[in-house]
Amino acid sequence: MQSPILKESQSGFPSDARPMPQELLSPQLQSERLTLRAPETADAHAIAHLANNINVASKLSRMPHPYTVADAANFIARVASGAMGKCVYAVTRTDNRAFLGGCALEETDGGRGLEIGYWLGEPYWNRGFATEAAQTLIDHGFHTFDADYIDGRCRVMNTASRRVLQKCGFQFQGTGMASSLALGGRVAVEWFRLDRKTWDSLRHWGGAR
Ligand SMILES: CC(C)(COP(=O)(O)OP(=O)(O)OC[C@H]1O[C@@H](n2cnc3c(N)ncnc32)[C@H](O)[C@@H]1OP(=O)(O)O)[C@@H](O)C(=O)NCCC(=O)NCCS
Repeated sequence: MQSPILKESQSGFPSDARPMPQELLSPQLQSERLTLRAPETADAHAIAHLANNINVASKLSRMPHPYTVADAANFIARVASGAMGKCVYAVTRTDNRAFLGGCALEETDGGRGLEIGYWLGEPYWNRGFATEAAQTLIDHGFHTFDADYIDGRCRVMNTASRRVLQKCGFQFQGTGMASSLALGGRVAVEWFRLDRKTWDSLRHWGGAR
């Protein structure tokens, strides 16, 4: 199966996305409510339960539909092998350890850029979890990698994802087409970018360090 995370290589924009260097093993990340950690074998049923939803799959380029426990187990094994890079995270709640969804960063443009992707199970939408996860991952990305920018892409009709990118400081760059495995065709997408200087400026706005 393919990654359930929307990435540039699915968007129709030129890409040389490749896995993260093995030595850059992703540490567990914490935010106010969330723990971002490596996907585990025990997540397979939760992943399949939440990912097997056309309202999720139709917003992502490479998520198959229907999505089975075997797909999830294969995905977890590929992440563990390093085949998908080392910045692929399960998004979980810290208080009850519930699996909510996934997010990832992938190097592009020979390491000059990163591409962010994320998805959450529908029961967890509209509670700020994706924004919290994305901001945590973005901070990790800019602190860990030398990338000048992080790109994000969403379908034109994906108001929620566009809003997540806006709340993270991304700026509109253009439009294009991307393939959709679940829909079996190509869809219109918008391309956003957060450059390092803008991220740094937003982080320090108001004197916060
Ligand atoms: C996109 C997605 C990750 C957002 O997750 P989320 O946890 O609900 O996001 P947040 O709660 O952090 O923010 C969502 C924002 O979109 C807004 N929003 C959601 N649906 C909306 C709609 N139909 N119209 C207008 N605004 C909408 C919310 O109000 C919120 O904005 P606000 O904080 O300014 O009120 C989630 O919907 C999802 O997983 N969708 C399927 C997969 C997907 O689209 N992944 C991204 C691919 S690019």
